Amino acid sequence: MLIRHPTDIPPSEITPHSVYLNRRQFMLGSAGLLLPVASMAALPASKSRYSTTDKPNSRQDITSYNNYYEFGTSKDEPALYAGRLKTRPWTVAVGGEAGKPRSFSIEELLKFPQEERIYRLRCVEGWSMVIPWVGFPLASLLKQVDPTSRAKYVAFETALRPGEMPGVARRVLDWPYREGLRMDEAMHPLTILAVGLYGEALPGQNGAPVRLVVPWKYGFKSIKSISRITLLEKQPPTSWNMAAPSEYGFYSNVNPAVDHPRWSQASERRIGEFLKRKTLPFNGYADQVAGLYRGMDLVKNF
Ligand code: MTE
Repeated sequence: MLIRHPTDIPPSEITPHSVYLNRRQFMLGSAGLLLPVASMAALPASKSRYSTTDKPNSRQDITSYNNYYEFGTSKDEPALYAGRLKTRPWTVAVGGEAGKPRSFSIEELLKFPQEERIYRLRCVEGWSMVIPWVGFPLASLLKQVDPTSRAKYVAFETALRPGEMPGVARRVLDWPYREGLRMDEAMHPLTILAVGLYGEALPGQNGAPVRLVVPWKYGFKSIKSISRITLLEKQPPTSWNMAAPSEYGFYSNVNPAVDHPRWSQASERRIGEFLKRKTLPFNGYADQVAGLYRGMDLVKNF
C-alpha cells in the first residue's frame, strides 16, 4: 500500500491474476512443495444469516493473493513465509478498561460457538474478494472481560516475532501492526474474530491463528494474528494512520464517494472477474451499519 500503488504501476507491468496463479503453481511445483496438504481438522460451524449470497472466491485465490507485511510486501510472500509463525501455544491478552481482564488460549477461543460467515472483503488498493470465514462475534469475547463504562475504544495488536517474521526487518510500518475500533463498532454483530476459512483452520497467510474481520471497512482494519486486545477511553493509534495520516483514517469505512488521495475508490476489481464492479457504501453493509455514523461527516472522518 505504501510501496507501489495501482496508479504508479503502468498497465503493461500488471500480471493478470490467472497468469500470476499459474506462475505461482509452477514455482511451488518446481520447489517440490505442491504435495497434498495434510488433511486438516474440519471446524464445526453453523450457517449465519449475516452471510452474503455473492459467490465466494476459490481457496486458491484467498490463500495466494495476500497482504501480510510482516512476511513481505508482495502478494505472494505471505503464502511462502507465514507458515514460519508458530501458532501453538497462542494466547490473546484482553485487558485495559475491563472489570475482569484475562488471557484466552487459542483452545479457549475455538470453544466459542463458531459460524460460517461469507463476507465481502474490499482492500483499500481497489480489489475485493468474497471469503467464507469461520468465526464468532468479537462482542462474545469482550462481554467476558466486563468492559467498564470508560471503555470507548478497542485496540488490537499483532504478535511481533522478528525471528519468525522476515518482513519486520524492514521498517515499512511501525511494528507491531496495530488497529482499532470504536466500542460500538467492536460490539456490532457483523464484527467477528475469525479462526478459520472454508471450514478449516485459518492458513498462516490469512492471519492464523485468530484475526479480526470487519466487513464494512477497508481490509487493513482486519488485523491478523492478534496477540493483544485493549479496551481504552481514548482513540488508539493505528499502523496505517501513523504511516500516512492523509491517506488512511481511523474509520476507514468503505466509501466510494471519498477517493484515496492517489486513486479513486468508486469501483473495484473482484479477484477472478474481468469487469470492474461499482464499490458500494460500507461495502454493501449500509443497512446494518450506517446508523453507527449518523450525524458524522464521513468526508472528514474517512
Ligand atoms: N494484518 C497484519 N498484521 N499485517 C498486515 O499487513 N494487511 C491488511 C489486513 N490485515 C495486514 C493485516 C490488509 S491491507 C488486508 S487487505 C487484509 O489483511 C488482507 O486479508 P487476507 O490476506 O486474508 O485477504
